[in-house]
Amino acid sequence: MKTAVVLGTRPEIIKMCPVIRELERRHEDYFVLHTGQHYSYSLDGVFFEQLRLPRAKFNLEAGSGSHAEETGKIMVGVEKVLLAEKPDVVLVEGDTNSVLAGALAAAKLHIKVGHVEAGLRSYDRRMPEEVNRILTDHCSTYLFAPTAKARDILRREAIAEESIFVTGNTIVDAVFQNLELAKENQDAMASLQLRTGEYFLVTLHRQENVDDAERFGSILKGLAEVGRRFSMPVIYPIHPRSVKRLERFGLDPLGLRVVDPLDFLGFLQLEANARLVLTDSGGVQEEACILRVPCVTLRDNTERPETIEVGANVLAGANQAEIVRCAEMMLKRERNWQNPFGDGRAAERIVRIITEGS
Ligand code: UD1
Ligand code: UDP
Repeated sequence: MKTAVVLGTRPEIIKMCPVIRELERRHEDYFVLHTGQHYSYSLDGVFFEQLRLPRAKFNLEAGSGSHAEETGKIMVGVEKVLLAEKPDVVLVEGDTNSVLAGALAAAKLHIKVGHVEAGLRSYDRRMPEEVNRILTDHCSTYLFAPTAKARDILRREAIAEESIFVTGNTIVDAVFQNLELAKENQDAMASLQLRTGEYFLVTLHRQENVDDAERFGSILKGLAEVGRRFSMPVIYPIHPRSVKRLERFGLDPLGLRVVDPLDFLGFLQLEANARLVLTDSGGVQEEACILRVPCVTLRDNTERPETIEVGANVLAGANQAEIVRCAEMMLKRERNWQNPFGDGRAAERIVRIITEGS
């Protein structure tokens, strides 16, 4: 029984880490195939080093490009490796172009596909991630739904019941495995001179936000206003995509403290100690919820509705006044909600299911 773990971007490395650790712990026959969609040290190498992950056996070095370029290049590369290595199962995680390309290439070779984090839907097909999720789910053999809600979505799309497994989300495993380390190592907060509960943390990089000058500009103004209104520094570890767009659109993130992307332990530490998180990231919405830090989501929809239902999150969209209103509301929230994403043993279940069949 041989498993290929296909990954290519920051969130996939973080969320596959517990799965890789479990494959290692059980001495399973597996290898990691990196697509190279992310390649900058701050989005890639730093996580392999810090999380002590084994080096990928293959790196396709696909790099950046249009959606078709990225997806096509990765499919061609993945196919070659799969033909040579002949794994029994290919595991992919999430909703990036690497995920879709990996899943499609495997499915066409009649290799079983396991989709970690299956059944998420924003119901917004303008988002590339939504197209990737739907297509990946529908060519997968094992659908690892993080919650009962995700399972129900898959059922409604007529996916065979026996293919769906509610496992929890591996982000809980990743947070639990690393939180103590993050708390002990106070470097990130110290180097930014931050004090617990006295700053806001922002991430903002999604295509629908930062590739639209007006929308990006409006969100930046909203964030600066939130900082002013509540007299707190707003820390923005910025994704390279957003750096490029700031420059192209001539936008000035006035009033925000823009810093380089952080490593995982540093980011977890900043998240766990923030007064409020404001984000358009999927993983960050989940982590804030798990860490009981209130979250304002800078989007019109979310494929993580569980976070809103438990009271951890609210959708603000891109309107300046609405971002301020939502921040004010979430600052008053009692931080006593339950984590809806599982018990931190998702990876254990996933590896058991692919290796033992249940
Ligand atoms: C991708 C995912 C997105 C996910 C994000 C995680 C898709 C469609 N999107 O978006 O869902 O939230 O990863 O961070 O797969 N760049 C670098 N260095 C890198 C990688 C990218 O500088 O290592 C820059 C390049 O200018 C590139 C741009 O970022 O053109 C966008 O990269 P890309 O991988 O296409 O999409 P992300 O925005 O990273
Ligand atoms: N993250 C990080 N450093 C940062 C920003 C984010 O380590 O500076 C981590 C964060 O903890 C989360 C993941 O990156 O686990 C989220 O990835 P991203 O926002 O890039 O993608 P998305 O979840 O939106 O697909």
